[in-house]
Amino acid sequence: LASSSHNHNDFLRCLSTSLPSQLVLTPSSPSFTPLLVSSIRNARLVAPATANPPLCIVTPTNASHVQAAVRCGRRHSVRVRVRSGGHDNEGLSYRSITPNSEAFAVIDLAKLHAVRVNPHEATAWVETGATTGELYYRIATAAPGLGFPASVCPTVGVGVGGIISGGGIGLMMRKYGLSADNVLDATMVDADGNLLANKKAMGDDLFWAIRGGGGGNFGIVLAWKLRLVPVPPKVTFLKIAKTMEQGAVDAVTKWQTLAPALPDDLSVRVVIQKSQANFQSLYLGNCSTVVATMRSRFPELGVTSADCKEMSWLQYTAYIYFGDAINSKPLEALLLNRSTTLGPFVKNKSDYVKKALTKETWKKIFLWPNGGGSGQLILEPHGGAMGRIAADKIPFPHRSGVLYNIQYVELWNGKQAGGDVTPTPNWIGGLYDLMTPYVSKSPRGAYVNYRDLDMGVNKVVGGVTCYQTAKVWGKRYFGPANFRRLAKIKRKVDRTDYFRNEQSIPPLPLN
Ligand code: FDA
Repeated sequence: LASSSHNHNDFLRCLSTSLPSQLVLTPSSPSFTPLLVSSIRNARLVAPATANPPLCIVTPTNASHVQAAVRCGRRHSVRVRVRSGGHDNEGLSYRSITPNSEAFAVIDLAKLHAVRVNPHEATAWVETGATTGELYYRIATAAPGLGFPASVCPTVGVGVGGIISGGGIGLMMRKYGLSADNVLDATMVDADGNLLANKKAMGDDLFWAIRGGGGGNFGIVLAWKLRLVPVPPKVTFLKIAKTMEQGAVDAVTKWQTLAPALPDDLSVRVVIQKSQANFQSLYLGNCSTVVATMRSRFPELGVTSADCKEMSWLQYTAYIYFGDAINSKPLEALLLNRSTTLGPFVKNKSDYVKKALTKETWKKIFLWPNGGGSGQLILEPHGGAMGRIAADKIPFPHRSGVLYNIQYVELWNGKQAGGDVTPTPNWIGGLYDLMTPYVSKSPRGAYVNYRDLDMGVNKVVGGVTCYQTAKVWGKRYFGPANFRRLAKIKRKVDRTDYFRNEQSIPPLPLN
């Protein structure tokens, strides 16, 4: 698949004969750059995306447009990257970090965002250009009493294309598992541009791979059929902050083994920032019950009924992101899928913890590097349903024995000079090194949806992604056995490695 300017022109010509012209934007269009950056919230990724832009952005309004874009790409040796919500932590849905080596086009699914809820069946079909906020809103308005386990912060526009492809963790996973555990069926376009209308057409292997094997690897998922889950009329939000002087270190030390063992209806996550621990929870029930549970199981937090708020599940999904500001906004704020405000520079990493850290270790972390840095640690408890689902049921392997996931988030105000950005300050890198002895090992686990290119970048050898190079990061995201199975499926469904990026699944070599 050699790319040249000759091919590029033929590709654009092919698109112009296959798609309505207004659905294909090239860099000469005034709307191109605004559309390219429309889903980017991480300022670190803006300059690299605009400095090496895609050949064009295709904005399909139906499946045949997606098929046509893939077929034109195949015919004229141009790769496509697919974007749903655009929240990939390294921007791989719309940027390439290997400039000039491979031209690509972006298929932006934002116009394909319909949600069809079937309240009687407790299912929904959702097109993959929808955000999780949109999904929550459509479910709750069509079928009060039903919900779906997905992201914690919906309204920043996390897309159901990416999040479900990589798993989907959130505050209902202890009760119902990941988003991907609740996928019943799907439709997709494969690497030959064929429409696979359901899981039967895909076959068991491909249907396994797309539920947690990471986005952008096997084809373009157009829609998911989801199993909806029951939610009570009122759920409870509970929030407690503790400084180090107020016992934050002791509380987090205890939380590590307590949170994964709490009733499945109760999730308590922790956000640590500036030497303070913020405990945030979702309880699928009322305030008085959760206060009683917390007082008996976690008296150190000193929870009282003044710390909790009862609300509908839909209100909760908005409240956890907007906070009290949601009181002055309509819940339709959840439908705003593309943001116009650009956040700071952000870098993320992740880990899994299987053995609780000591109080002394936590003290070091709270004070890292010298009395509290610029970053956040977000701890999501596992246990419950997460521990009961087998590690090979879908490609996401972090199940039984995991106490919690850590997301490291470094935020800073960087400068964008030319095409370069200020390098990442080293709060996150130093802390990640410090954590090595305390987190999961052989392999050190990571969550594919918190993508981190520091773990390794693919090499292309003989025209395809090198399996041995990819294994370094692949086994960390998926575990060795699941990664090998993903590579085997890749060989079967996309032998020539058409869908690829800096961390895509390689085809398994024949020997
Ligand atoms: P984006 O469009 O960038 O796609 C991500 C990857 O999936 C790319 O490789 C892309 O090509 C591919 N892809 C997209 N659509 C596809 C499709 N239709 N078919 C096949 N491949 C497709 N995660 C989580 O589990 N729980 C959480 O609570 C959060 N919260 C959160 C908040 C914020 C602010 C950010 C930035 C990220 C999260 N995440 C998260 C991580 C999130 O799940 C992850 O970044 C997802 O990949 C984002 O999906 P998008 O569709 O938005 O990304």
